[in-house]
Formats: sequence, structure tokens, C-alpha cells
Amino acid sequence: MSIITMATTKGGAGKTTVAEMIIGVVHNMGYSIGVIDSDPNCSLSSWLMYVSNMAIETRQVLDETKIVEEAKALKRKHDLVIIDTPGARSQSTVFAVGCADLVIIPVQLSNSDVKEAVKTYNLVKGAADMANRHIDARVLFTGYTPKTNIAKEVRKTVAKHSLPVLETRMHHLVAYKEMSFTGKIPKKGRAGAQGQLLIQEICEAGHLPFLMEYKRAS
Ligand SMILES: Nc1ncnc2c1ncn2[C@@H]1O[C@H](COP(=O)(O)OP(=O)(O)OP(=O)(O)O)[C@@H](O)[C@H]1O
Ligand SMILES: [Mg+2]
Repeated sequence: MSIITMATTKGGAGKTTVAEMIIGVVHNMGYSIGVIDSDPNCSLSSWLMYVSNMAIETRQVLDETKIVEEAKALKRKHDLVIIDTPGARSQSTVFAVGCADLVIIPVQLSNSDVKEAVKTYNLVKGAADMANRHIDARVLFTGYTPKTNIAKEVRKTVAKHSLPVLETRMHHLVAYKEMSFTGKIPKKGRAGAQGQLLIQEICEAGHLPFLMEYKRAS
């Protein structure tokens, strides 16, 4: 139904962690997810196959020309398709962004995170122009430390560049790091609450239509 791509040319910004949270929360709600890992490091696919115990159809697609075809095939079978991308400028990112309904651009609290987010946002706009359609793209603040000067500065810089932003913020929390070892998606505490809020916000933006139907039925 929907394709959501994690992208930023900044390495280590939190793409894979955000992908893990979205997959975990949506999976725990009982929906099916297909995953494409286009990062040669295969972090997300390795985590899904060897750390997490979720049964998720996962494809490592390192030939970028196959990404769109694979994403469309997974979209026919699953409620949601998640694509993870490498943390550097690459052809994979262009294809993964080009077939997305929503691109999430994680930004940690550094100037280089913002700079790369701007480049990534422009890449999304270019891909949308090329495909002659709208592709929604939103910055997600990750590794966030509220009430700090750096957080204020980064928010100001993002606003100056007119980048659309998700209201939900993923704080700098050990729970997210632990998830990479345990495979367990935080359900409680701040990380659990932020995961729920993120899904709710993506749903309200119209990118998880199956959840809207679920809400109407219940
Ligand atoms: N909100 C957070 N709080 C604490 N640690 C975090 C958070 N988000 C990510 N991290 C940690 O930051 C590191 C980088 O995160 P992650 O691997 O998700 O980034 P990435 O963008 O996928 O990196 P790459 O570009 O290398 O693929 C990891 O060690 C992860 O556990
Ligand atoms: Mg990654």
C-alpha cells in the first residue's frame, strides 16, 4: 500500500534505527511489512534476519536498478514497504526515493546532519519532478536532546531551509541502542511512546491508509 524510504546522505543519522522502530510498531499491530535493504552494509536486513524474531519478508537489493521493481512487488503483497538506504550519496538513494510515498530524513543534532538533510530533500524534489508527481519528505529529529541550545540551533537551521518536519522526535535514548542488540522493540517508556506517536503522525499524514481503516472499524 505505502512505500516509506529512510534517506539521508549523512552516515549514522539514524535511518536504520527509525526503520526498526516503524517496522516493530506496525508489526506488533498485526500488519504485514516488506523490507528492502539497499545499504551494502546490510544493517537492517541482518538485524531482521539474525537479531529480531519478527517474520518480515526482507530483500537485500544492492543492484539499484532493481529497487523500484522489488518495491512494487512487495507493495502488492504487504500493507507497508520500508526501504533503508546507504549513508552516502548513491544511485540507490535516487531509486529508493523515486518510488516512495514518504521519505523520512533523520537528522541528529549536528550541522552536517542538517547540511546532508538539505541535499537529500533537494534530491527528493528532483526525483519528484522527474517522475512528475509529489513525494512527501519530512525531517525526523533523532538522537534529540530537548531543552538544549544545540537542539534550538538545529531546529532554527532546519526552519531556515524550509524543510518540512515531523513533530515527533526520537530522543537520545539507550532503549534505541539496546534494540540493535536485543531485537526487542521498546513498547513502554519514552522510546515506546515516541514509536507510537511517530506511527500516529505518519498515519495522520495519510501514509498508512490501512491504519485509518483499522481506526474507523474499531
Ligand atoms: N534516538 C537515538 N538514541 C540513541 N542512539 C541512537 C538513536 N538513533 C540512532 N542511534 C544510534 O546511532 C547509531 C547510528 O544509527 P543508525 O545505524 O540507525 O544510523 P544510520 O543512518 O542507519 O547509519 P548508516 O548511514 O551507517 O546506515 C547506532 O549506534 C544507533 O544505535
Ligand atoms: Mg543504516
